[in-house]
Amino acid sequence: MMSAAAGGTRPTGTCRVCEGTVVEFLDLGRQPLSDRFLSEPDLAGEFFFHLSVGVCEACTMVQLMEEVPREKMFHEDYPYYSSGSSVMQKHFAHTARRFLETELTGPDPFMVEIGSNDGVLLRTIHEAGVRHLGFEPSGKVADVARAGGLRVRGDFFEESTAVEVRAAEGPADVIYAANTICHIPYLKSVFQGVDALLAPDGVFVFEDPYLGDILEKTSFDQIYDEHFFFFTARSVQAMAGRFGFELVDVERLPVHGGEVRYTIARAGARRPAGSVARLIAEEEDRRVASPERLGRFAADVNGIRDDLLALLRRLKAEGKRVVAYGATAKSATVTNFCGIGPELVSWVCDTTPTKQGRLTPGAHIPVRPAEAFSASAADYALLFAWNHADEIMAKEQEFRRAGGRWILYVPRVHVE
Ligand code: SAM
Ligand code: TMP
Ligand code: ZN
Repeated sequence: MMSAAAGGTRPTGTCRVCEGTVVEFLDLGRQPLSDRFLSEPDLAGEFFFHLSVGVCEACTMVQLMEEVPREKMFHEDYPYYSSGSSVMQKHFAHTARRFLETELTGPDPFMVEIGSNDGVLLRTIHEAGVRHLGFEPSGKVADVARAGGLRVRGDFFEESTAVEVRAAEGPADVIYAANTICHIPYLKSVFQGVDALLAPDGVFVFEDPYLGDILEKTSFDQIYDEHFFFFTARSVQAMAGRFGFELVDVERLPVHGGEVRYTIARAGARRPAGSVARLIAEEEDRRVASPERLGRFAADVNGIRDDLLALLRRLKAEGKRVVAYGATAKSATVTNFCGIGPELVSWVCDTTPTKQGRLTPGAHIPVRPAEAFSASAADYALLFAWNHADEIMAKEQEFRRAGGRWILYVPRVHVE
């Protein structure tokens, strides 16, 4: 049992996977929709919710305490385009080629992707002439994929929509999702859908930010409205078992600050690889989901907030020009939790046209195109897109040559 916080009891909730008791360990306060970039007229009606995160005492699943309705997050104007990073393009092309060589070798293979976005992965499957279908409820990103010749269904993946696809198109050999399953609170329905659609020897593969890496790096900005679950091998194994499946492989990935790719098969259909037991043993050693470890994480998060605010206030007092790089969804948590607005960070640059000319959620920092950065002669750039640091620093070498410095807050506040 998790102990009560000093001075009062902690809020509890019900686990979305096993209905056990979820106990809060970190409160990140009042937060906006992380991907809702605003024009002036939108400011008055901005939506806020309470962002806090807890752990299930029964199955160890870490999850948000409050759920934001899915239509508020994933809609016509959802602004995240997966192809915006060249590193991610390569990652998904490589992932698709691996599926083509391993799972999609039968006579008429069929691959389904949940959250196919702008088609960054399915385009390689399509080019190989393999039957595919994306599920993508966000209108404009799905249209980009369709314009590239991909087959995309504009629905949320859940039991009812999966059943329809099974009836019309037959079983899928691979059901794949990147950075999407952790966005879905209604996972029971998703697993029922997978059960309906997956071939008897097929695989359900998904990759998402890994709780082990989030704790290691204190990357609390991975916590926002869209990221409902924070998986470990142990919690995913328990979830798969609960829904009649089995976790048969895990692979750590370097992308997005550290992820794990989970491979799930029907119970008994495939022999689990040694990687599963190894990662679970490592999680046990590190006591990843223990109240003590999660409590230490919460204390570290408060430390980062204090250090980052102190640094930005000092730079402001010294008259330095401070901007930010990458209007990420993650940065909504940082700016709103720390109380960072345009008075501390003048603007943020981002390559996404639909974010430019708008204001960031909650903090209302203006978003400018990437070109503004090279012209800015800023002294410091707060790197919100720290998960793309190699890619960004490689193309912005001139900034450092001209005397500019990067501010990072993961795994601790430092200047490079
Ligand atoms: N797979 C891409 C990637 O890794 O870059 C996109 C990830 S994006 C963060 C999450 C995507 O999942 C969004 O495009 C969203 O519209 C979609 N999504 C959310 N819930 C979904 C659901 N139930 N079924 C299918 N797609 C969903
Ligand atoms: P992500 O961390 O969720 O992938 O979001 C990355 C954001 O950063 C997205 O809005 C695109 C932006 N971005 C840039 O502005 N320049 C870049 O070089 C990269 C890689 C991303
Ligand atoms: Zn649970």
